[in-house]
Amino acid sequence: MGNKTLAAPSILSANFGHLADEVRSAEEAGADWLHVDVMDGHFAQNFSFGPKTVSDLRPVTGLVLDCHLMVSNPQDFVQSFASAGADYFTFQIEAAVHANRIIQQVKAAGMKAGICIVPGTPVHFLDELLPDLDLVLTLLVNPGFGGQKMIPSCLEKVAKLAAIREKEDYHYLLSVDGGITADNAALAIDKGADVIVMGSAFYEAPDRVAVVRKIKG
Ligand code: DX5
Ligand code: ZN
Repeated sequence: MGNKTLAAPSILSANFGHLADEVRSAEEAGADWLHVDVMDGHFAQNFSFGPKTVSDLRPVTGLVLDCHLMVSNPQDFVQSFASAGADYFTFQIEAAVHANRIIQQVKAAGMKAGICIVPGTPVHFLDELLPDLDLVLTLLVNPGFGGQKMIPSCLEKVAKLAAIREKEDYHYLLSVDGGITADNAALAIDKGADVIVMGSAFYEAPDRVAVVRKIKG
């Protein structure tokens, strides 16, 4: 969208024993958003955070809380994340039966609405939803774990989404998630990504400030 790229460290790779410190560290490193991966052990084969994590972190940080729900039945969690102080509520299209209704519920609850697609889901599944979305998240790995290798072919979906946005004058932000490093982020930014989510490459970096600086260009 021509604006500066936003850096969104994913606390899935943070030390959960010191979560508030890890969040402050992201803020001090110059991050714009904090990416909160929510997994239910069902849609994704792992467990992570829930709405209580979000409400406990809300007073700790001024960063945008970018909640990515890799859960079955996302409609059941709209209210609890809104009450917790989530800014973005992004759910998996593969887990949603009535995605249009969920988007409306998310917005009515005062949050921005996002949809995420896994590597096996094509962009055209979102055709009817794109006009209403605030964010489209393209997963570049199969969900569940940090530290996986990016699947480069997924980047073509970002390019497609950017072209559709331009043509139709839609307003969604384009976010990418999975296997992104300070070195390969430019591949996604070149395709049109506005938000760069980064777990292990941020939290395992010896110099977190340098990582964010490189992303933001
Ligand atoms: C994948 C998650 C990601 C994860 C990314 O299931 O949605 O947000 O934290 O971690 P990295 O950047 O290590 O691939
Ligand atoms: Zn995520």
